Amino acid sequence: MDFETVSYDVQNNALVIIDQTLLPGETVFLTLTTVEQAREAICALRVRGAPAIGVAAAIAYAVAAQNIQTNEFSEFSLLLSAVKDCLATSRPTAVNLFWALDRMEQVLTDNPGAPIVIIKKRLQEKALEIKQEDVAVCRKIGENGAALLGDGFGILTHCNAGRLAAVQYGTALAPIYVGTEQGKKFNVFADETRPLLQGARLTAWELNQAGIDVTVLCDNMAASLMHTGKINAVIVGAARIAANGDTANKIGTSGLAILAKHYGIPFYVAAPTSTLDQACATGADIKIEHRQGTEVTELWYKKPMAPKGIGVYNPAFDVTDHTLITAIITEFAVHHNTGGAFSWQG
Ligand code: MRU
Repeated sequence: MDFETVSYDVQNNALVIIDQTLLPGETVFLTLTTVEQAREAICALRVRGAPAIGVAAAIAYAVAAQNIQTNEFSEFSLLLSAVKDCLATSRPTAVNLFWALDRMEQVLTDNPGAPIVIIKKRLQEKALEIKQEDVAVCRKIGENGAALLGDGFGILTHCNAGRLAAVQYGTALAPIYVGTEQGKKFNVFADETRPLLQGARLTAWELNQAGIDVTVLCDNMAASLMHTGKINAVIVGAARIAANGDTANKIGTSGLAILAKHYGIPFYVAAPTSTLDQACATGADIKIEHRQGTEVTELWYKKPMAPKGIGVYNPAFDVTDHTLITAIITEFAVHHNTGGAFSWQG
């Protein structure tokens, strides 16, 4: 698997993504040249996962910048702030989206009044830098996290926080990839992850492609699996981590953490520090995306599976209390839970 989930075709000035809505059936790469196309791709989860969304937004911003036809700095800035708004209103929870857009906008702040041609070049470079950084950061997460995973471990994961959720490696799956490179064998269990099936469709696909043993289970089978004693660790990604360590991640994550505590299984979160949002003191400050009910009642069925017009509760994320998290693995360190709020030193 030597593709990048998100990339920048500089020659054709386009954002290129693998369309994750079509996996595992079809492997289709989309070439997106407008900000509207990029926004639609993020909203529809063609590109998804916190780091991948951030990188895609940065590239979409750079692509849009190249297409602006003005030599006037103030007009250029104004048009780019509309681009930022358009992308920033795609999905609310994954903080990497806002982090990446702020970094792109900072290029304008750092070069006030500079010739537009220079700024366009810098924006292109910045988008490529953000993408390359993601690869390096995820690799480090993998190296830090692999030390926690012993040979022969059974590992439960939720959603997809693998290479499809980043540029390469991913976050939660990075320690599994690096551990495998080190010669360890793992039995990975992927929750199917209702309602959008990121586990069954994406995690199962990418681990299978990589030759790593993977078994899919329905979300409501996790307790039964843990009870068998086959799970040595749970590892998940994060959409946004509050300053105290409370972690927003795919809906169902907090239930797994509660189960893991009951069964005495370590519960790890793996994420880049760009997912840490110090502006959120606790998880209560994290905005949770709610998605349309038809994802629950209709998406995977030939006919609607609930009465017409019925109310549907469909939050895309939940917040895992930091007290349930054994450690948070970042590119810098393994931050262990020592009681109280997490400390980010190290
Ligand atoms: O709705 P999604 O598929 O974008 O949700 C993704 C997750 O919840 C991931 O676990 C999280 O973004 C981390 S991805 C490395």
